[in-house]
Amino acid sequence: MHNLESIIQSAKVLIVEDETIISWCLQESLEALGYQVSAVVSSGKKAIDAAVLVKPDIALMDIRLKGEMDGIEAADFLYRNFDIPIIYLTAHSDENILKKAIQTSPFGYLLKPFAPKELHCTIQIALQRHQSESRLSEFISIASHELKTPLTSIHGALGLLASGVLANQSDTAKRMLDIASSDTERLVRLVNDILDLERLESNKVTLNRQWHDAAELCQQAIATMQTIAAESQIAILSNLKSLKVFADSDRIIQTLVNLLSNAIKFSPPQSQVQIEVEQIADEIVFRVCDRGCGIPKDRLESIFERFNQVDISYSSQKGGTGLGLAICRSIIQQHGGKIWVESVLSEGSTVSFTIPYRDFNNR
Ligand SMILES: Nc1ncnc2c1ncn2[C@@H]1O[C@H](COP(=O)(O)OP(=O)(O)O)[C@@H](O)[C@H]1O
Ligand SMILES: [Mg+2]
Repeated sequence: MHNLESIIQSAKVLIVEDETIISWCLQESLEALGYQVSAVVSSGKKAIDAAVLVKPDIALMDIRLKGEMDGIEAADFLYRNFDIPIIYLTAHSDENILKKAIQTSPFGYLLKPFAPKELHCTIQIALQRHQSESRLSEFISIASHELKTPLTSIHGALGLLASGVLANQSDTAKRMLDIASSDTERLVRLVNDILDLERLESNKVTLNRQWHDAAELCQQAIATMQTIAAESQIAILSNLKSLKVFADSDRIIQTLVNLLSNAIKFSPPQSQVQIEVEQIADEIVFRVCDRGCGIPKDRLESIFERFNQVDISYSSQKGGTGLGLAICRSIIQQHGGKIWVESVLSEGSTVSFTIPYRDFNNR
């Protein structure tokens, strides 16, 4: 995720206003507020040229402009073609103009005269809303691509079976059924992960925080992963002391299971995975260490992003969706903690996360 603060502070603003005194005052106030005014133009056509040239983060648009294109048409063009969010600054409170303006999905509508503070607040809200909309549409486009891949293969396999051409080829038919079945499982995992992450990130999940024994949470996660570890000939070692932690037990176990599953998936057979927990100052620190393939230095942060996998074909073949660590990060952040990974290529990785010892809301 981009750092919202840095984007907002360095935001580039395009001013489209045909009254020189007003545009001059606007520029003054914006610069005093710390924005970069990247262009000031007086017509719809020039606004489009300027948008191509300076790529502003936001445009302030007067509605009534001289020339062939009015502010509403120019705004519509800028938003649809260049995804530039628009704030109308206008003297028109006319219902019909408002209705027309609303159809262009503006991010704000300020009636002149307004105070610089009002402008500042409107810009901030607009930039933040635009950023979350961009993130959401990027997520939807990647997610639908991810969902389409197994669906296409299921569709193909079932189509072949249904056509009857494999009637006398039971081996091929069986292979097609296996493909359809394993891709169906992948589809279910993807849908579950996407829905879980969406709920977590839109703050629709309320944590049920209680006092628990951290060692017990680790034990439950180990029990869940034991069979899969044994199948991969991997031993899960633990050295656990009883420590109190104030957390949502299901969510912490979910996080630990995700981390153990990664550790097992990216480790060679016969190796060991270790789980530890300790108290450092006023935090409980959980760690999952492996002796696996490791993670390149430049990927240590990006793997916490959605659908971010170092070796996509290997991870997908192992059943991964690329959403596990994003889900873990969201859970830990909601607990007020941090999650990070340290790793040496070909030697192994350690993923750690912290949970503040006390309820940070009630400190
Ligand atoms: N313990 C680990 N060792 C090596 N690589 C890892 C480890 N944990 C995570 N990764 C890398 O981070 C990526 C993202 O992890 P995750 O979000 O859990 O997705 P998934 O496991 O579904 O692929 C993995 O695909 C892998 O490339
Ligand atoms: Mg995973």
